[in-house]
Amino acid sequence: MCGIVGYIGQEPAAPILLDGLSKLEYRGYDSAGIAVFDGASIRMEKTVGRLRVLQELTQNGETMPGFCGIGHTRWATHGCPSDTNAHPHMNREHTIAVVHNGIIENYAKLKAALQKKGYEFVSETDTEVLAHLLTEYYRGDPIKAIEKVLSRVEGSYALGIMFLDHPHHIYAARKDSPLIVGFSGTGKFIASDVPAILKHTRTVYYMENEEIVSLSMEHIRFYNLDGEPLEKQPVTINWDIHAAEKGGFPHFMLKEIYEQPKAIRDTISPRIQGDDVALEELGLSDEQIRSIRKINIVACGSAYHAGVTGKYVLEGLARIPVEVDLASEFRYRDPILEADTLVIVISQSGETADSLAALREAKGRGAKVLGIVNVVGSSIAREADNVLYTWAGPEISVATTKAYSCQIAALYLLALKFAKVRGQIDPSDFSQMLQDLRNLPEQVEQLLGQKEQIQFFANRFLATEHVFFIGRGIDYAISLEASLKLKEISYIHSEAYAAGELKHGTISLIENGTLVVALATQENLYPKTISNIVEVKSRGAFVMALTNEDHKEMEHTADYVLYIPKTNRFFTNSLAIVPLQLFAYYISLGRGLDVDKPRNLAKSVTVE
Ligand code: AGP
Repeated sequence: MCGIVGYIGQEPAAPILLDGLSKLEYRGYDSAGIAVFDGASIRMEKTVGRLRVLQELTQNGETMPGFCGIGHTRWATHGCPSDTNAHPHMNREHTIAVVHNGIIENYAKLKAALQKKGYEFVSETDTEVLAHLLTEYYRGDPIKAIEKVLSRVEGSYALGIMFLDHPHHIYAARKDSPLIVGFSGTGKFIASDVPAILKHTRTVYYMENEEIVSLSMEHIRFYNLDGEPLEKQPVTINWDIHAAEKGGFPHFMLKEIYEQPKAIRDTISPRIQGDDVALEELGLSDEQIRSIRKINIVACGSAYHAGVTGKYVLEGLARIPVEVDLASEFRYRDPILEADTLVIVISQSGETADSLAALREAKGRGAKVLGIVNVVGSSIAREADNVLYTWAGPEISVATTKAYSCQIAALYLLALKFAKVRGQIDPSDFSQMLQDLRNLPEQVEQLLGQKEQIQFFANRFLATEHVFFIGRGIDYAISLEASLKLKEISYIHSEAYAAGELKHGTISLIENGTLVVALATQENLYPKTISNIVEVKSRGAFVMALTNEDHKEMEHTADYVLYIPKTNRFFTNSLAIVPLQLFAYYISLGRGLDVDKPRNLAKSVTVE
């Protein structure tokens, strides 16, 4: 996600802003910029690329004198990485500058209304809307203008704002995207995260949702959205700098597991409008959606596992035949693609060589290609005919968690959209499933509360050598991802198996004490999976089962049971995968391994 830094004090602002942004580079970004009040105007410099480019451009801030400013590193969500789309964004008069982390979900509507009033936009971003909306409402009182703007904005935001006629002030506000306020003997700060200001101060205020703050040399004043003053207590940060980069988490993987509720919400919410799914970014008319005769999903690793879930959900809801291929196989099997085939390429990085080659193979055979990608402007995003972005934010840990969860969430939206357009779903079922989707982030949040219980259970299996994950239908898809998570970060051999297939050979490997993780979230297949659990138990297996919360009788069959809250059977992957990510994490941690950077692995496999 983006990084924000702001400063007002006795020292030159630009070097402090640039240094603070450098401490936020770990968050992932594609462009950077700063704005500083130079005594007469708000000077702005911003550029695509690494922070180093901006540092060279401004001679590490020397060319931008002034004691008050804001800075930003951008992780693109709306609009490709470019100088123009980089933050800060200013109004035409250059009297207001804004930096933003988050997603303005209703930016298109706000932008159209402002354009009708004659406002001219220069960027593709959602953030620029804020600069013009502040201009529209500003009558001399920054807090009042900010209140009015935020009352019209839907979505998530952490904002840093400057007003030219309040040159010795910085304003900030937050909702769902983190923002802190710090102060030292010589200045005051805003930042997205502690690392940006830790060298200056360990005394910070954590802003809460829908709070506004005004900073000057003399004061720090907090307000609610009604403009009423708020009293807040500062806290002291005790982290060391490395812990701080991970937001206080010991590893990026755990931090990203905990970011899943927000990542899923950011991916789903902007695309559920009223009682419908809005997916204009597909670039497919209803007619084109109705004419799709087949879907090929192509990906690697966890993205492939998301695709397997996609098969069950798209076929189950939209009744469209779906074939799922490993990209490394697809590209060499001389695939048969008709003109009315939709190829979906799923990729977190958007740079996986096999997936990119498969995309080119598909396009070369006349198929329309949709990308489901996390990195805006990446190769797969640029070469696909259309892109459905996952808004998971940057994923640092090699083992994917939040990006995978957002990939399956994007596939749910696609399946519901296709099912509705093709008349394959009852309107009341459709509405109920939209509500089930909206509930997922909170249910994931609830599952994160099982952390200690899962860590305790994981510690019993640190020395285990073989693990089997079994399931039927979507439970099989979940098994695939859970098994890979364990393998790649704990180095324990594990296999995912269709539960009904075990008896055709592999069950010979089950012996006394073999750990089997049985997924049983598919109500229509529950009795069959119970039989498979009995099957492996009779051969000595120790079975951890994962099932829906109303199946307490599972405790009479399995040795250890984890429960997930009720949701639609097509969506259980989003919930079941969370405890299994934690299980893999704690096994790796217990074995003293490098959770975030497992041996032999790269975050993006850009070679064949
Ligand atoms: C998953 O934890 C792995 N990091 C790996 O399987 C990954 O999913 C695969 O390499 C695909 O990467 P992509 O999503 O960036 O294309």
